[in-house]
Amino acid sequence: MKPPRLLTDYPLRAHNAFGFEVRARYAQAIECEAALACARVDPRLKGLPRLILGGGSNIVLTRDFDGIVWLIAQRGRRLVHEDADAWLIEAGAGERWHDFVQWTLECGWPGLENLALIPGTVGAAPVQNIGAYGLEMSERFFQLRALDMKTGKALHLNAAACRFAYRDSFFKQCESGRFVIVSVVFRLPKRWQPRCAYPEIERILAERGIVKPSPRDVFDAVVAARQSKLPDPAQAGNAGSFFKNPLLRPADFEALSGREPDLAAHPLPNGQIKLAAGQLIERCGWKGRALGRAAVHARHALVIINNGNACGADILKLAEVIQRDVYRRFGVRLEPEPTII
Ligand code: EPU
Repeated sequence: MKPPRLLTDYPLRAHNAFGFEVRARYAQAIECEAALACARVDPRLKGLPRLILGGGSNIVLTRDFDGIVWLIAQRGRRLVHEDADAWLIEAGAGERWHDFVQWTLECGWPGLENLALIPGTVGAAPVQNIGAYGLEMSERFFQLRALDMKTGKALHLNAAACRFAYRDSFFKQCESGRFVIVSVVFRLPKRWQPRCAYPEIERILAERGIVKPSPRDVFDAVVAARQSKLPDPAQAGNAGSFFKNPLLRPADFEALSGREPDLAAHPLPNGQIKLAAGQLIERCGWKGRALGRAAVHARHALVIINNGNACGADILKLAEVIQRDVYRRFGVRLEPEPTII
């Protein structure tokens, strides 16, 4: 197989959800695993820094990239196995996540509906273990196939090997660009139970008079919840939540809630307490406020938006001021959620 076409001085505006006008020295569209294997040993790219881009929805590109950008575009989705308990569904890493979720529902395989409308691709989903409205991707994950860019070997990783945690995985911990996800298999249990205890979803379903929600009802409620609060990247560039929700030890949380009443807090199975970063940012007065060409979204303080012609440095400057203010008031360090390049 010939290596994929090498694009030079390639504009990345359409490949990053903030819409920054940055360029890559080289780019290649990766449409199958063989193309990736070829690109790996392409002599023209030897020694260059590498960047893997899915939908570009969880990345802040602060500068031009002087290396090779691989645009993950591997398509395909299929039922790989069915038994009495579950369906196993595989999708190519370049499939759009939301389209995939919608397709599984249309095929009669529910289980991913709480993750509707999350921007990005299937291949990016395991990297940060996407989650929303009471469900994390790891709960529906079976295994993935990845190419080790160091050795050229393809490998299958199960959930344990992926080391999923809150917005975290093995792929965030290991050397950047070492493993490229090619496809993912999800396990959707046949004994479906609606997951709708999240207050906002509960409220939307109640408003709609729905007592026994179907998967489609949950999907519609999640879409409505997201559309009412989160900005559409086509309208205002953004990477969704800019910070992770901070995790506190119980003793630290006790001390903090003594000084700061009514903090939203979610206990995790490991004993830690998850705070709502959006609430901390709002209490610092940042909701809806701008700093230069970057701003905090007016309907959700956890989202930083490109107010028009912002660059990565504008976004990072605002993020730093927010981190400083939150730390001064709450003693809590906010960690960015997107990858910063
Ligand atoms: N809140 C505020 N002010 C705000 C925003 C939030 O006070 O401006 C407080 C409220 O108390 C609210 C609580 O924060 O009850 C939680 O807010 P929300 O339900 O919107 O969830 P979140 O914790 O801010 C997380 C995910 C989102 C996901 C939602 C829904 C992270 C970093 N973010 O946000 O994921 O859609 O839950 O499940 O965990 C993303 O990762 O890009 C993303 C959008």
